[in-house]
Amino acid sequence: MTQSLTLLGLESSCDDTAAAVVRQEPGQRAKVLSSIVFGQTELHSAFGGVVPEIAARAHAEKLDHCVRDALQAANVTLRDLDAIAVTAGPGLIGGVMSGVMCAKGIAAATGLPLVGVNHLAGHALTPRLTDDLAYPYLMLLVSGGHCQYLIARGPEDFTRLGGTIDDAPGEAFDKTARLLGLPQPGGPSVQKEAETGDPKRFRFPRPLINRDDCDLSFSGLKTALMRMRDQIVAEKSGLTQQDRADLCAGFQAAVADVLASKTRRALAIYMQDAPRFPALAVAGGVAANTAIRAALETVCATENTRFIAPPLALCTDNAAMIAYAGLERFRAGARDGMDLTARPRWPLDQTSPAMLGSGRKGAKA
Ligand code: KG4
Ligand code: ZN
Repeated sequence: MTQSLTLLGLESSCDDTAAAVVRQEPGQRAKVLSSIVFGQTELHSAFGGVVPEIAARAHAEKLDHCVRDALQAANVTLRDLDAIAVTAGPGLIGGVMSGVMCAKGIAAATGLPLVGVNHLAGHALTPRLTDDLAYPYLMLLVSGGHCQYLIARGPEDFTRLGGTIDDAPGEAFDKTARLLGLPQPGGPSVQKEAETGDPKRFRFPRPLINRDDCDLSFSGLKTALMRMRDQIVAEKSGLTQQDRADLCAGFQAAVADVLASKTRRALAIYMQDAPRFPALAVAGGVAANTAIRAALETVCATENTRFIAPPLALCTDNAAMIAYAGLERFRAGARDGMDLTARPRWPLDQTSPAMLGSGRKGAKA
């Protein structure tokens, strides 16, 4: 590595408009010079999910501001950049197009090279940005839109070991909160309720836990919760605070158990790579859950594997991860032209079968 590189990154694949500047000096770890995120939660809150058209319009409006703020906060100008990285998929297509068009506009005006980045690669490479993690490592993406295990072997070399066949875990947390009348986003509210709950009072299913693969399923959990809730309401004509806490604790324990068990399987497959320094990294909003984190930490401790959870701001959607993934691709010689297209679906591992269905937050690549 002989050249200092500074990249602007753009992200607009879901409900966060983001721009960031990342720089890597020769022989040093990459640094996030700025990371600006404009969330759209309020715009969508009345609709119970992200409305793609509203998201796309908001991205188109906010991207310029984001870029200006990111450059200012990093104390750089367009002339200091070496390339522009942009999320080119997977995601809600209108939003991805807004970002790609913005990046092309800047590239056309400045002559800077363009690098299209897979959003999932952005998440998957984050532990290299934050912890300088060496390849190969195991990655678990767990958010409102994603849930999959990947072995990361290089900036464009991923093996998908398995993932959800229906809902993402964050989606299940959000639906659980909705069913119990708790505020959105559901993850933090369910976690808070669970603190005073008894995880053993209600026995939730552990979907696919006995299946000898790394696939997961979360939609049955929410159906089970709905049934239990309806049964209590029928018996007592309402839920007490304790009922709610116990339901949340039981649900959260089931998610943690399933993730721990599937992580053990994924680690066993990853170990076949004989990594010198085995590591599991997590990304996504659900990685903020303390019970889930503790369960994963326990699995890693028993398997002599390092556990890495990047700071939450870099675990959830942001543009620093896109700038960094773009930087790795750029250093490896990747360049995209004005024919770069926005892709609603874009599996990281081209050899794995495509996922069916699309979640609340868009395509589950
Ligand atoms: O990564 P993220 O910010 O956005 C995407 O989905 O791409 O993840 C948001 C998801 C939401 O579904 C939210 O409920 C969940 O992460 N989440 C949590 C927690 N904090 C956020 N789930 C469980 N426990 C938490 N503490
Ligand atoms: Zn994401």
